Amino acid sequence: MPTRNRSSKLLQALARAAVDPPPLWMMRQAGRYLPEYRALRAKAANFLDFCYSPELATEATLQPIRRFDFDAAILFSDILVVPDGLGAKVEFREGEGPVLEPMGSADIGRLNIARVRPHLAPVYEAVAKVRAALAPEKALIGFAGAPWTVACYMAEGHGSRDFLAPKTWMWRDRKSFVALIDILTQATVEHLSAQIEAGADCVQLFDSWAGVLPEDEFRDFVIAPNRAIVNSLKTRHPKVPIIGFPRGAGSMLGEYAANAGVDAVGLDYTVPLAAAQAVQRKLPVQGNLDPVLLLVGGDALSARVRAIRKAFGGRPHIFNLGHGILPATPIAHVEALVNAVRAAP
Ligand code: CP3
Repeated sequence: MPTRNRSSKLLQALARAAVDPPPLWMMRQAGRYLPEYRALRAKAANFLDFCYSPELATEATLQPIRRFDFDAAILFSDILVVPDGLGAKVEFREGEGPVLEPMGSADIGRLNIARVRPHLAPVYEAVAKVRAALAPEKALIGFAGAPWTVACYMAEGHGSRDFLAPKTWMWRDRKSFVALIDILTQATVEHLSAQIEAGADCVQLFDSWAGVLPEDEFRDFVIAPNRAIVNSLKTRHPKVPIIGFPRGAGSMLGEYAANAGVDAVGLDYTVPLAAAQAVQRKLPVQGNLDPVLLLVGGDALSARVRAIRKAFGGRPHIFNLGHGILPATPIAHVEALVNAVRAAP
């Protein structure tokens, strides 16, 4: 571990220490629930320009650390910069979210892995700027979407309810779907390696749509590509911890934890505490407060924070939400969360 971060509580937990109180950060901790984020966001014409401005991305990354003193910063960026880097058409429309040109097997030849690093150079510049500005005891988390989740957006062109496009592709033309997953696997390794080289202390793989696959396909398109990415990163950067977040994995969670090769497992808010404790006997866990409970606040929030701390105390745990913070979350509730997580038990 680099000397500069021996003091990081997040890295200690990832190295399997039971840290008390647990390190705390929140998925999507930079974002629209913060007035200072909304003001900064207004300075860029669109969301991708915002992500590709090293100055704005650096500032957005640091905002939640300044306000809440979280234990870790997560790079301000998006999982869809990888398809953009590969040359797929990606757009973010205001009030609508991401819109991509839906692609199929005929379009795979146009994806260019060698374009990822040069196109995403401003992202790596932001990583270096954030690392230089952050206090040494604050870890910097780099991230990427996992191949299945990114493939869902590329095939469908937007978010989805039934995942018709990626699933029909997967079952009608497995060979070319595997080719897409392989390209995304390699591109993700490049993107995460570049973030690590620029100063990220650890990385998280977001497999946000892991939960929509049947078991065989969960093995082939969630566990296997996560494992392949971990294996490549470990040969290049053996000391950099990797957090896997297979959202919605359900009863496949144990198999994911055992076989994906990750150093820690992010738990979504549906994971029962007993199932989470079974994972925690093998690996550090991260999570898993329901973001709606943070929005609701009050006694329900503080009771659940105590329950989560009690369930995971004594073994390595990183306190986090079980999915991203919601834009309507009151800031006072986040402050209450920070106090509750750091209060004496
Ligand atoms: O956690 C952080 O603070 C770092 C930044 C971050 C963003 N997106 C910024 C963002 C991270 C880690 C992500 C990951 C991401 N992006 C995921 C995986 C996590 C998850 O939520 O499951 C996914 C699926 C995406 C794709 C994406 N980006 C969608 C579906 C949307 C639209 C929905 C929404 O929340 O607006 C985005 C846009 C986006 N990414 C915003 C932010 C702050 C909002 C855009 C804006 O500010 O105008």
